[in-house]
Amino acid sequence: MTGNNGATGNNGAGRRLRSQDWFDNPDHIDMTALYLERFMNQGITPEELRSGKPVIGIAQSGSDLTPCNRHHVDLAKRVRDGIRDAGGIPIEFPTHPIFENCKRPTAALDRNLAYLGLVEILYGYPLDGVVLTTGCDKTTPSAIMAASTVDIPAIVLSGGPMLDGWHEGDLVGSGTVLWRSRRKYAAGEIDAVEFVDAVMDSAPSIGHCNTMGTASTMNALAEALGLSLTGCAAIPAAYRERGQMAYRTGRRAVELVLEDIRPSDILTREAFLNAVRVNSAIGGSTNAQPHLAAMAKHAGVELFPEDWQEHGYDIPLLADVQPAGRFLGERFHRAGGVPAIMRELLDAGKLDGSCRTVTGSSIGQNLEGRHATDREVIRPFDRPLKERAGFLVLKGNLFDFAIMKTSVISDEFRQRYLSEPGREGVFEGRAIVFDGSEDYHRRINDPALDIDERCILVIRGAGPLGWPGSAEVVNMQPPDHLLKRGITSLPTIGDGRQSGTADSPSILNASPESAAGGGLAWLRTGDTIRIDLTKGRCDMLVEEAEIDRRRSDGIPPVPADATPWQRLYRKTVTQLSDGAVIEGAADFRKIAVTPPRH
Ligand code: FES
Ligand code: MG
Repeated sequence: MTGNNGATGNNGAGRRLRSQDWFDNPDHIDMTALYLERFMNQGITPEELRSGKPVIGIAQSGSDLTPCNRHHVDLAKRVRDGIRDAGGIPIEFPTHPIFENCKRPTAALDRNLAYLGLVEILYGYPLDGVVLTTGCDKTTPSAIMAASTVDIPAIVLSGGPMLDGWHEGDLVGSGTVLWRSRRKYAAGEIDAVEFVDAVMDSAPSIGHCNTMGTASTMNALAEALGLSLTGCAAIPAAYRERGQMAYRTGRRAVELVLEDIRPSDILTREAFLNAVRVNSAIGGSTNAQPHLAAMAKHAGVELFPEDWQEHGYDIPLLADVQPAGRFLGERFHRAGGVPAIMRELLDAGKLDGSCRTVTGSSIGQNLEGRHATDREVIRPFDRPLKERAGFLVLKGNLFDFAIMKTSVISDEFRQRYLSEPGREGVFEGRAIVFDGSEDYHRRINDPALDIDERCILVIRGAGPLGWPGSAEVVNMQPPDHLLKRGITSLPTIGDGRQSGTADSPSILNASPESAAGGGLAWLRTGDTIRIDLTKGRCDMLVEEAEIDRRRSDGIPPVPADATPWQRLYRKTVTQLSDGAVIEGAADFRKIAVTPPRH
């Protein structure tokens, strides 16, 4: 693995480790001296560093700026204990903070930035393995993307969701309560004080969002991919089991180095298809689509946009967890969590049990003895909450790719829009087009738009280039006059995303986006759009010649770059169908095999 002939040390690996290129390098004794002297600041002795013990990084994603992950600051102590007890040396370092709710103009802009930063750290410092501390939405994919690029042994430690939230006797879940309260507020059913109180009550403890939003989804999928210890994802942040999982994860990180198990040994196409299926069964976030695409890209795995429908659509909804269901993270964990879901899929022949994992065993072996313990929360495969609950993949003259999360289509919505006798699954409506969310908020209640229940709300300028970063704005609320009549959702389409906590059956992640010259750029308010779920099509019923004429109007303008990173991001980012990754970054793979240049 390295270019020199130094001793292996008594590390149990039977080979020289990467960190020894720094700390015990007879070819560069001057540099070794330099590296050793400053790490002493932590009280580490030169003997320890030169002994060839695995040096394990703890990628610390928690901070006051990332409150969803903040308890990792404490959990890291148990990770360190585990690393020490297994014979390793822990080195903790911060990652770029990404707080989903708060980073403007969107946290999605920072996923690739955090990825870049972590790649440089894992590549450029003397680390043999890494514990990836994850939680809030983008902290998980950015960490996994980086670990794949560098390809040193890596293990995911989820921070876990908050405890279940309660408000006036009802369960209130992160995000989902916000969307539901917004509708009640607009309909005049609650006042501003009640609105804020309900949202506060959804957050009773440390941890990330307690719904099956993007955070819980991405941690579940990290486990499904085989990157965390069995049962890690769903343990609530405040439970004592979380600290125990931190300790075990630290221990296992050392063993991964000794056994030389790397992300590239785990992240296969079969592993990603397992994750796609698990996402359907948990009613997971639509953000899983770009994030899994990005992780697959950096892992060198082909995951096609169509895989979501081909492999995921037929999977039933098994987890009765908000936003697709009723319960929250605590009940989900007590019901058996991700292993119980995976066990249902495995027994139904819907999971590849042979995939390797960080435990050193296969998925199938990890799931032995695991099963659901609360059938109200985790349903048997043959008695699901909903059949065929995965994402539909759509295309047409408005975009080449978009997805629709079918597990959140309510019976009422299906009845109103998708059940016309003889035309089931087909809906035609009048387009109301908004350029960005400011335009939407300014005009949604404008009587001149004459919005009724036959309208389709469209938002553009919300993709990776347009926003920039791609914003969670597609789940647009109907105008107040419709809400007051009890019409809580209209069909919506957009080139942005929507929150994983949203319960709207939007058509989203449309690629290419309007700002890249996609079909949405040529749509006008008043056009008719036909959505045909039976054929997977979504088209504007506008003559080709008229579309050509509109092209001469140019692409609808988007905001200028506000920061240097926004400019760099826009120059390099791909579309959501492709994971919105940095163009060309996937050319760099397994880069840790190259010894450092001293
Ligand atoms: Fe951080 Fe939901 S806002 S996990
Ligand atoms: Mg979000």
